[in-house]
Amino acid sequence: MADSPLVWWRRQGLRSRLTVAASAVLALALALSASVLLSVLERALMDTVDESTLAQAQAVRVAADAGTLTSPITTHDGTVVQVIDARGRITHVTYGTDRLVPLLDAEARAKVLANGEAALLDGRPYAIPGFLRAIVLSADHGQTVVAARPIGEILTSLATAGRVLLVGTPVLIVLLAVASWLMIGRTLRPIAALRRGAADITHTARSRRLPVPQSLDEVHSLATTLNDMLARLEEAEQRQRALVSDAAHELRSPLASIRLQLEVALGHPDGQDWRETAEGVLEDTMRLSRLAEDLLALARLDERGGVPARREPVDLDEVVRRTVDRYAEVRLTACAPVVVRGDALDLGRVLTNLLDNAVRHTSSKVEVALTADGVLTVTDDGPGIPEADRERVFNRFTRLDSGRSRDEGGTGLGLAIVRETVRAHGGTVTLEDAAPGLRAVVHLPPTI
Ligand SMILES: Nc1ncnc2c1ncn2[C@@H]1O[C@H](COP(=O)(O)OP(=O)(O)OP(=O)(O)O)[C@@H](O)[C@H]1O
Ligand SMILES: [Mg+2]
Repeated sequence: MADSPLVWWRRQGLRSRLTVAASAVLALALALSASVLLSVLERALMDTVDESTLAQAQAVRVAADAGTLTSPITTHDGTVVQVIDARGRITHVTYGTDRLVPLLDAEARAKVLANGEAALLDGRPYAIPGFLRAIVLSADHGQTVVAARPIGEILTSLATAGRVLLVGTPVLIVLLAVASWLMIGRTLRPIAALRRGAADITHTARSRRLPVPQSLDEVHSLATTLNDMLARLEEAEQRQRALVSDAAHELRSPLASIRLQLEVALGHPDGQDWRETAEGVLEDTMRLSRLAEDLLALARLDERGGVPARREPVDLDEVVRRTVDRYAEVRLTACAPVVVRGDALDLGRVLTNLLDNAVRHTSSKVEVALTADGVLTVTDDGPGIPEADRERVFNRFTRLDSGRSRDEGGTGLGLAIVRETVRAHGGTVTLEDAAPGLRAVVHLPPTI
């Protein structure tokens, strides 16, 4: 099926469409102004002719009224005059003018007199080349003055002007169309460059930035916005890649340990303590499953993009009490009733992660407090974290005590999960110096 013209038009390139549209509007405007110009010119020229003819006719009428008409009547600018008496006879004329046939018959004279406008008449029957504009005035004693003036020259000028416009207008339109085509092409060039840049990124994945034009226009801001977006995507991709390689790295040591234990056990089956081997393998397996769980928790947080899994009213004090009960060495110093909106399991995991850290590092006691304004603190009296590292430890896989035994330390995902969960709940988490020790402060907005 053939496309409709509208569909075809929309399929054309922006450059062609803009050029055609601009040229069409221009052509219309030029044609209109040319025709207005011609008609105004004609009107003005004819008015001038009519005015001078009228002046001549009035002069003749004055002479006719006074009875001082000369024969032939003299005029200066080639005006042809006939004076006709009440009986319709031509009494006086200018030199060389027909004495027998009036330029306008009685009926035409009456019509011109009545509407006061000049009449157009063909001069050839009166041996005058071309057309004339004729004016009629009535004088005393029933006389009529007919004055006419040839307008051949005016018509020739108008025709010449018309021809100039007829040739000039299309030439002008073509020139402007070419100029528009070039200018629009120049304007669209940065967009073409953007497109090429994007294609480069897609094909080669080498250059990661779009070309930014120097001009500070819309294309410039589009290019910078797109580059910002590319930078963010690249950053996210790098983070993702780093996460995968860190995760693989973390998986390697427990797996290698399991493999070694099993190989040793199988290589020397005699005198092998299978129970000990099984315990060792189980410990490594638990490390693996904890790592898998933490990675899954982070992946879920990423997937939801900063929104908690559920948005239910949660009694935070209840969650705190239940979690603290699982740790014998932890003391709950304050527990005001607080209700927050979110996911109880995730909030429980936040406190668990903080308590695991505190219990692991403390030297004597760990204290937990929850105040009515939704501030939860976990304080220990261990070595604390140097100021410079207090932000860094929230990054994934960041461990400060990697020198310590792996069995004691975790994988460095605990605080990352805490921060992202708290953020998803609209809160903040910071680490402070408890002198001695560390205090983790979690702000969660309570529902009123
Ligand atoms: N209460 C604390 N006192 C001193 N250092 C701490 C404390 N809590 C965390 N850290 C330091 O911050 C690092 C990151 O903590 P995070 O909870 O993220 O990881 P992790 O405890 O090592 O592993 P995971 O929690 O995944 O088992 C820890 O390795 C530790 O060095
Ligand atoms: Mg931890």
